[in-house]
Amino acid sequence: MADYLQFADPFWENPPSDTAPKNAFQHWDNIAMAPISSMPMGTAELSIVGQGTIAVNSKTTDGIEFCVSTGTSYPKLILKLTQHSATFYKKEDAAKETLLEGTDLRPESSRFIPSTSPKDGTVYWLSIDRSNWVLRYGKYYTSKWLTLVEVKLDDKKGEWLEQLTTVKVDDSKKPTRVMGVRVDPNIKISRLPVTLDLPPIVVSNEAVTLRRLDFLAETSWVNLPNACQNLYHNISGEKISLDAEPEFQQLAEAIHKSVTTPGLWGHNKLKSKCKNPTNPDPKEFVYKYLRITIGSNKGNSPGIPYVMEVWPPGHKSPIHDHGDACAVIRVLSGTIQCTWYDTLVENVDPIMLGQPVALKKDQITWLGENQYQIHALENKNDETCITLQCYEYPKDNDVHEEKFRFIETSTKAKDRFTPNSDSTFTEFYQLMKDEWHANKSG
Ligand SMILES: [Fe+2]
Repeated sequence: MADYLQFADPFWENPPSDTAPKNAFQHWDNIAMAPISSMPMGTAELSIVGQGTIAVNSKTTDGIEFCVSTGTSYPKLILKLTQHSATFYKKEDAAKETLLEGTDLRPESSRFIPSTSPKDGTVYWLSIDRSNWVLRYGKYYTSKWLTLVEVKLDDKKGEWLEQLTTVKVDDSKKPTRVMGVRVDPNIKISRLPVTLDLPPIVVSNEAVTLRRLDFLAETSWVNLPNACQNLYHNISGEKISLDAEPEFQQLAEAIHKSVTTPGLWGHNKLKSKCKNPTNPDPKEFVYKYLRITIGSNKGNSPGIPYVMEVWPPGHKSPIHDHGDACAVIRVLSGTIQCTWYDTLVENVDPIMLGQPVALKKDQITWLGENQYQIHALENKNDETCITLQCYEYPKDNDVHEEKFRFIETSTKAKDRFTPNSDSTFTEFYQLMKDEWHANKSG
């Protein structure tokens, strides 16, 4: 598994024993973090002339055309999507269309529109970046990592982008009519283009150096979505640790012993989560981990917002999302491998983004509504890993999806998981303390 500095390394290779899916990317850059405003119609205006991200959710299996124009006349920027192509054009007038050469950035770009639409449709997005003269087309999340095709213009050839104001999207589906009124595809416009993705590791602003700032190895918490900033401040203090209580500083060791020793509370609890608790299937058992909740549910997160998770050696999570919530995750003990993916849309196999990263004690990672939302965690070490997961919905999220979607590991089917609790922290702490003292000699 890679160190976090290798997350964006295009030349890093998995060790031979690592069976993780093939890496999809050659580069990494940037993020459109501003909230996306919703406009339920087929046409919309860019908030800033000549730039922005346009996202459309469509169930088409035929084709989609994005047209961004000056409103009344030419030039027009056209993005045509079919099952096998994504092509950018500049339309100079009614008769003249110039192809804008693009580069395919991801392996699945050979199938741009699915032959069978997922039940909830697919999000397609177009980003116009007039500051860097770059056009991008991607699917699912509006993140640079999810770019499928990129067109790089220079300032002479891209100057015309500065005139674009009006967006029209046609997805070849008959417009839906509700009470006799035509409802076109739902378009969402972001003021910012998709540019630089922030790195997945977050540090305090005191820890950032000029070199690291330039290299973009880590991000300071100040760049994160507001919900992540709140969470970061609550759990980044030095006393958020497993040895903070002078009366019992062996909590990490006690937890490791409990979850790895048959007959102790932790091991029994893990077994009880299996289909056959008395004799669990080892393939099922490795996907079990403990969720120890801290505090109460304040109605602004999927489940209780602060959760200590316990990962015995070799145990792991399925690939899952976080209900579009923001999250911050701190490693309290041991090391966890974090691997990010592109989508959990049905009928599509998730593809890994970047490299899997080994997060060590006191390192903190984050995820946003559109960034690093889908991941899988795995403890590949001999020491039990203990992490602190913290969740909060973004301010403009009015859905509050209470469930995490995940891929069921045996059937590969997409399923939903309600974040639950195996114990409160207070009860768990006392249990571990009592068990540690009762079994000290072993
Ligand atoms: Fe997660």
